[in-house]
Amino acid sequence: MDLFQYKNGVLYCEDVPVDSLPAKGLPTPFYLYSANTLRLHYKKIYGAFEKLDPVICFSVKSSNNVHLLNELAALGAGMDIVSGGELFVVKQSNADLSKVVFAGVGKSDEEITDAILSEVGYINIESEQELARVQELAGDLKREVSVLIRIQPDITDEKTNEKTRTGYKGAKFGIDYANVEALIEENADHPFVKIKGLHCHIGSPISSYTFYEECIRKMVGLTESLKQKNIILKVLNIGGGFPANYMDNDNFSWESFAGPIIELLEPYVKKEGFKIILEPGRSISANTAVLVTRVLYVKKSGDKNIAILDAGMTELIRPAMYNAFHFIWPVKPEAQHLLTNRNYPVEQEGLTNYDVVGPICESSDYLAKERALPPLQQGDYVAVFTVGAYGMVMASNYNLHVRPAEVMIDKDKIYIIRERETQQDLVRKMIRHEL
Ligand code: LLP
Repeated sequence: MDLFQYKNGVLYCEDVPVDSLPAKGLPTPFYLYSANTLRLHYKKIYGAFEKLDPVICFSVKSSNNVHLLNELAALGAGMDIVSGGELFVVKQSNADLSKVVFAGVGKSDEEITDAILSEVGYINIESEQELARVQELAGDLKREVSVLIRIQPDITDEKTNEKTRTGYKGAKFGIDYANVEALIEENADHPFVKIKGLHCHIGSPISSYTFYEECIRKMVGLTESLKQKNIILKVLNIGGGFPANYMDNDNFSWESFAGPIIELLEPYVKKEGFKIILEPGRSISANTAVLVTRVLYVKKSGDKNIAILDAGMTELIRPAMYNAFHFIWPVKPEAQHLLTNRNYPVEQEGLTNYDVVGPICESSDYLAKERALPPLQQGDYVAVFTVGAYGMVMASNYNLHVRPAEVMIDKDKIYIIRERETQQDLVRKMIRHEL
């Protein structure tokens, strides 16, 4: 469910008609966020898992604008980060650093040191070698740090794109499940690095709660076995990867998704005082934004209709990279093409098939292939939906395009939350000097 809806013949973001924004002088393309959708999604996920009293660490890699992070921090969200850059932006936000978890297979000494000195909640350890390095650095600094060990559980959801699976044997992420117990035993008494629990993230997006169940069983199995040896782990971070609505604007039942997970974990939370961490990204952020773009040209190539937009893989790389589906529709369609409900495929008369492409000099630069759309004309504004996760954060300057502005709507208020880059920005760091 999101707050992008067709009313009075035009797409609205909350109380603002989207076509009013270019009219105010905002050049396309731009990302348009709905603050209340962001809040709503956080509350829905928190509400579904509330019985576990979880800490929801929003996955900053999915959407990293500090003003959006502030909205979530105000609701009590923690943050899941994977780099010194993400730590830096989180430190600019109002987020509570004790609710920050720091994952990633290749943390540098500088990043580990920064995390220790910033007193983040937990560093998620992804290898024996990393644990050793964190121990050395924490020892040098004489500072205590809490860590979670990321297990590699050998669990794969075949429906997840191969490029976003993480839990399979041989993946670069985490530590082989079979080796984790011994590693924790050997390192349980370190004076500065305290192993508090386990972490796991099996991929993104995951199609069913059953994969989490399987993973949680492995995690609690480990904590029970270690308890026999007087090693008490009480933090379970079950990662992110919860799904988002790409095909429609229906209400996903978070209660049915969370129910079986709660059933498994509740006894550990209620009787043994376990703390549960979740790291959702796209399930909170994906439906919070549309990319507003303009049709530059419509042409024929062979028997294909090609609609060339002013946005492409530089603004939204997901179709090119994962063959990902994004719903596309004109901002102000003809009356007979208005949508009461966003649902793919659209059952309407008079649609035309288009390859919807961007201006970049690559054949992989497309946003949709053979997509049935209302007839498009030069100058039409078009919205690309569900781009709040892994959209702007993966934008690039390829072909020296400037990265677009980000705009946030909160009811009838319009805020620019990131200015569009300028061509000066493109060359600002091209400085020649002798080393
Ligand atoms: N936790 C960890 C350790 C992760 O690696 C990720 C995502 C998440 C949480 C959040 O996953 P989410 O809830 O957002 O699904 N660029 C790809 C997705 C890559 C995901 C990477 N890790 C895409 O556009 O689909």
